[in-house]
Amino acid sequence: MSDLFNDKAKDWDISERKLSMSSAVGSSIIKYIRLNQQMDVMDFGAGTGLVSGHIAPFIKKIVAVDISQAMLDKLSSKTELQDKVEALCQDIICNPIETKFDLIMSAMALHHVNDTTTLLNSFAAHLKPGAKIALADLDKEDGDFHPKGSEGVFHSGFDRAALQKILENVGFHNIQFFTIHTINKSGKQYPMFLVIADKH
Ligand SMILES: C[S@@+](CC[C@H](N)C(=O)[O-])C[C@H]1O[C@@H](n2cnc3c(N)ncnc32)[C@H](O)[C@@H]1O
Repeated sequence: MSDLFNDKAKDWDISERKLSMSSAVGSSIIKYIRLNQQMDVMDFGAGTGLVSGHIAPFIKKIVAVDISQAMLDKLSSKTELQDKVEALCQDIICNPIETKFDLIMSAMALHHVNDTTTLLNSFAAHLKPGAKIALADLDKEDGDFHPKGSEGVFHSGFDRAALQKILENVGFHNIQFFTIHTINKSGKQYPMFLVIADKH
């Protein structure tokens, strides 16, 4: 499988847009989820670890899962993350990991996975009973956010009601959506949601 983020990894953290997006996701997770030093957390599609960096001080450990080795190499080069964040280059949908987590968080990675139901089922399988998800992505947009024909982009954002249905079917409850940020790109505005929910 080719690394679609190979060329993006080097300059990822220089982008003001990405820094403010990840900061909004991090501070919203801190606001809406009661984090504690006993928590094992997965950051799905962790990339260079921008969101992990915000959350790491408040939890026990983060497994930063991604299929881009280049993005994870960047994450692993950050000495400030080394105590708490472990990089794992693995497709957890085909190849699950044994650890069960207290929280799975994700920022802007859901739209890169074609089958959302299978992904959310995989999240449920990786969570302890009563554990939580905190997933951030774009609200439904007209398809302009990514350049036309971008490889590995399967969704033009998400319809909240449709995503809520999938979450319910997969076995999540206490589902809450928050508008946490707006990305300004090429003169257009793209609202972002954070959905939090509990596993049964
Ligand atoms: C838009 S980036 C977001 C990175 C990071 N969460 C952030 O906010 O800066 C999407 C990330 O999801 C990763 N990704 C795409 N498909 C994935 C999959 N099936 N499993 C794990 N990570 C995936 C990509 O490699 C990329 O690092």
